[in-house]
Amino acid sequence: MPLVTSTEMFKKAYEGGYAIGAFNVNNMEIIQGITEAAKEENAPLILQVSSGARKYANHTYLMKLVEAAEHETGLPICLHLDHGDTFELCKSCIDGGFTSVMIDGSHLPFEENVKLTKQVVDYAHSKGVVVEGELGRLAGVEDDVNVSEEDATYTRPDEVEEFVARTGVDSLAIAIGTSHGAYKFKPGQKPQLRFDILEEIGKRLPNFPIVLHGASSVMPEYVEMINSNGGAMPDAIGIPEEMLRQAASMAVCKINIDSDLRLALTGTIRKYFNDHPEHFDPRQYLGPARTNIKELVRHKIRNVLGCSGKA
Ligand code: G3H
Ligand code: 13P
Ligand code: ZN
Repeated sequence: MPLVTSTEMFKKAYEGGYAIGAFNVNNMEIIQGITEAAKEENAPLILQVSSGARKYANHTYLMKLVEAAEHETGLPICLHLDHGDTFELCKSCIDGGFTSVMIDGSHLPFEENVKLTKQVVDYAHSKGVVVEGELGRLAGVEDDVNVSEEDATYTRPDEVEEFVARTGVDSLAIAIGTSHGAYKFKPGQKPQLRFDILEEIGKRLPNFPIVLHGASSVMPEYVEMINSNGGAMPDAIGIPEEMLRQAASMAVCKINIDSDLRLALTGTIRKYFNDHPEHFDPRQYLGPARTNIKELVRHKIRNVLGCSGKA
């Protein structure tokens, strides 16, 4: 099956009250771990590439790896640009075979966000590619951007209808209290999301897919694995799984996960080197890292996203 857009996936997810996992990819082992789990769970899948990942791994290498995964699994896979920041980057990914792009104008004033997003939508739609826009600003760290807590803002429900109508976006990322990275809440702070905002947006945009960024749970077993093998991330804390299940049962159709993959990979490798200080063959430590990514993704698909068997 060729790469697909997210249109059908989101329609079924919205109706079925579940979400599709959008997992960030950077290299072969990550792609293999994710896609093997999705295949065994028969789950629809979005693989997403940030501009940093594209710089790191090279567009062609990533395309070929994703094509190989699609060939091996036969699954419907959507290949998505995560946090595109310019028209030129989105165009380059569209022309290069991506089936979905995000244009993230969330840092811009409303009118400029509308203008940039519409420019991307017009080009993408002319090529059969779908577009995710964003309103509201998440806190946290992405490759080139670090948004402080003071600069983060919740999405304003009274802006969403106009934004979607004027831009023609196919899905909308919103800010309800999640954030990028492994430090989403302060130590001792009770994790909370603004489900009231999500509910209001859902009412204003019926049957429209909403996207949740910054949705890693920062799984305690991997934080513990890092900390007990020479790492130092004692205050890492993520979104409780129960909240993600709740979001998936509402209008959220796409849940973005990157940090959990990074923690699983890093924790596994740290432990491996602690247990086997004499080893130096990359396959010896990348193999178990790939296996743990696979099990992590299986867990997300089955127990958090609810999309097992929905491919
Ligand atoms: O939202 C950001 C993703 O986790 C990608 O992170 O820009 O460091 O590749 P990156
Ligand atoms: P996490 O940092 O919570 O994994 O979020 C990833 C993300 O939103 C990618 O766009
Ligand atoms: Zn994001």
